Amino acid sequence: MNRYYTRFCEQFSLQVPIIQAGMAGGITSPELVAAVSEAGGLGTLAGAYVKPDELRQAIRRVKELTKRPFSVNLLLYEEPQTEAAAPQLVSWLNQLRAELGLAPWNGEIPPAGEDVDACFAVILEERVPVFSVAFSLPGKYGSAAKAAGMKLIGMATTLDEAKALHAAGVDAIVAQGGEAGGHRGTFVVEGKPEGECIGTMALVPLLADALPDVPIIAAGGIMDGRGLVAALSLGADGIQAGTRFLTCRESTAHAAYKERLLTAKETEPRITRAFSGRPARGIENRLMQSFAESGISALPYPLQNSLTREIRAAAARRGDSEYMSLWAGQGVALARRSDQSAAEIIQEYINQAEQVIARWCGGGS
Ligand SMILES: Cc1cc2nc3c(=O)[nH]c(=O)nc-3n(C[C@H](O)[C@H](O)[C@H](O)COP(=O)(O)O)c2cc1C
Repeated sequence: MNRYYTRFCEQFSLQVPIIQAGMAGGITSPELVAAVSEAGGLGTLAGAYVKPDELRQAIRRVKELTKRPFSVNLLLYEEPQTEAAAPQLVSWLNQLRAELGLAPWNGEIPPAGEDVDACFAVILEERVPVFSVAFSLPGKYGSAAKAAGMKLIGMATTLDEAKALHAAGVDAIVAQGGEAGGHRGTFVVEGKPEGECIGTMALVPLLADALPDVPIIAAGGIMDGRGLVAALSLGADGIQAGTRFLTCRESTAHAAYKERLLTAKETEPRITRAFSGRPARGIENRLMQSFAESGISALPYPLQNSLTREIRAAAARRGDSEYMSLWAGQGVALARRSDQSAAEIIQEYINQAEQVIARWCGGGS
């Protein structure tokens, strides 16, 4: 047992209070998830944008690699009405397609290609220890997960969202600060161009005070042991980190994406709806800039995601990071190493935290 063993560790059978975030988009390999769990944290497999069969294979591989608890994450959303794309959106898209040598878009909105119900059925069948959700309350999925004996984690960007998650019976709440990389977890993003972006420093103590009987997990910009100590000082019971794990050895993020992460400045991550229709923070590139300059509106999530899929796939084939989604948080410039394993990163969080405490207390425990 170590001094970072919180009630969250106790309740989720962990040794250290660190969650590696589920990161959709071919990043969270079973090897990454298992390595984090083996190191005593909670590895999370991203279940969004994955076919049910692929998800089942990935879960089974994690189970082969570790007997420790791990989590599977889904992004929950309401199916939007299919809308016609505005002519400006069509011409923006076709301009980018032309730049990548793709044929012009025929105007038909491709299907989302996601089957959340089928993915959740796999999660139930495979008896995954922890189920986590973002973008909304867990709803019917949460009730089924709890009935099956799983631990349940939700994500909040405001106090009201956290209170609603608490009322829905989640076992822990991720307090996602505005610094975070990837999608904003804000439940209702209509009329809010960037979702809600309250900083981690302000959000975590607010939630910890208001909801003392549920573990609060701080997320957003927590890149090292200083951030871990800060989060625990603010009343969190643990942290969830995404950006910090993107460049590690087990991460299967595209090589060109990893390269950009290693040189990005703190000013480069910006919030955009260009890729998916929902606000998300990533390193600014040609696709994001042209979208911002055009002043057009994206289709609602996940329709915009379907629209940009071929562009992102073509960019990945060419290794061209100017057209990929380069999700990253504001702390991106704090991690410039690609040679670490996930276990080394977990150990580094703890070692640095120890150094912070040693500096304060003269090494005292
Ligand atoms: C590349 C990337 C993909 C992400 N995908 C997801 C996801 O699929 N589900 C989810 O709940 N959160 C996702 N997130 C957000 C994380 O849960 C978390 O809030 C965020 O990474 C914390 O901020 P940090 O990146 O500064 O550590 C993603 C974040 C990144 C960086």
